Amino acid sequence: MKEKIEHLIREIESFRADTEAQMEDFRLKYLSKKGMIPSLFGEFRNVPNEQKREVGVLLNTLKTKAQEQIERFKAQLDEKEESSEGNIDLTRPANWSNAGSRHPLSIVRNEIIDIFGRIGFTVAEGPEIEDDFHNFTALNFPEEHPARDMQDTFFIEKDPDIALRTHTSSVQVRTMENSKPPIRMIFPGRVFRNEAISARAHCIFHQVEGLYVDENVSFADLKQTLLYFAKEMFGENTDIRLRPSYFPFTEPSAEMDVSCMICGGKGCNICKYTGWVEILGCGMVDPNVLESCGIDPQKYSGFAFGMGIERITMLKYQINDLRLFFENDLRFLKQFEASY
Ligand code: PHE
Repeated sequence: MKEKIEHLIREIESFRADTEAQMEDFRLKYLSKKGMIPSLFGEFRNVPNEQKREVGVLLNTLKTKAQEQIERFKAQLDEKEESSEGNIDLTRPANWSNAGSRHPLSIVRNEIIDIFGRIGFTVAEGPEIEDDFHNFTALNFPEEHPARDMQDTFFIEKDPDIALRTHTSSVQVRTMENSKPPIRMIFPGRVFRNEAISARAHCIFHQVEGLYVDENVSFADLKQTLLYFAKEMFGENTDIRLRPSYFPFTEPSAEMDVSCMICGGKGCNICKYTGWVEILGCGMVDPNVLESCGIDPQKYSGFAFGMGIERITMLKYQINDLRLFFENDLRFLKQFEASY
C-alpha cells in the first residue's frame, strides 16, 4: 500500500491539464467519490496497526497534493482565458487609479476670474520675464527712485535690465500699449520677489491685476467694483474699507481691507483683533502711466487693482502657512473641492 501511494503522488505531481476536460479527468480519476484517493481511504482500515501511522501520513499528503493540483489547474486555465482575445469580460470593474485634484490656488484664481467675468472683465496674460520699461519705468517709477526698492527684484540681465516681473502691473502696460479704451480686463499670473521664505512670504507667488480704462471712470466705480468682488468672494455680509496708500502708478492710491470673515469683525487672531484684513492695493491709474502707454489722459481715466491669490486663499480656507501651497503634499492638496 505504501508503494502504491508513493507512486500515485509522483503521478499526480507530473499530471498536466491544459483544458477544462483534462482537469475534470483528473478530478474524476483521483478525487471524486469513486476516485482512487477515496478508495484508498476505504482500504485504510485493513492496514496492519503498526503501519497505520506511516500510511495515514502518506495518504493525507496524497490528498493534499491532489487538491493543490486542482487549484493550480484552475488558476492556469483562468489566466489563459483572460489573456486570450475575444474573451474579455467587459463587465469586470476597472482598476481604480488615483484621481488628482485641482490646486487650491487654481481654484481661487478661477473663482476670481469668474466673479469679474460676470461684470464684463476679460482675461489676458503677459510674460514672466520683463524689461525694465514694463515692470518699472512705464509705471511711473522714476530712474534711481527708492520706490523701485519697494520690491526686491531678481535681475536676469543688466543694461538693458531684464528681470522676473515683481508684479502683474506690467501686464497693464502691455495691454494699454496694444489696445484702445474701453479696456476692462484682469491679468492673473506668477510674480517673483527676492524675499526670504516664511509662513507669510515666498519668493514666488501669484497675483490678479485688474484694469478699467474709459471716459469718466471714477473712484466710485473702483469702490463699487471692489465691494461687489468682496461680497462674491467672502459672502454677502462682507464690508470693505479703503485706507490711503502709495503706489507710483496710481493716484490716489489705497489699500483695501475686508471685514474679517473668520470672526465677522469681532476680533480674532487672523485679523489680529482689529476686525479687518488687508487683501489688495488699488487706485486711479496715474495720468503719467496712461501717457507712457499712448492713451490720452485728458480724455480717459481708469482704475487699477492688484491682489495676491495666496493671501485670499489663506483667508478663504484658513490656511496659516503659505509654504503649504508649494510643497505638493497630497494630504494637503486632496482637501480642496474644485467648485471652479
Ligand atoms: N502692483 C501692486 C503690488 O504688487 C498692487 C497694485 C496694483 C496696486 C494695481 C495698485 C494698483 O503691490
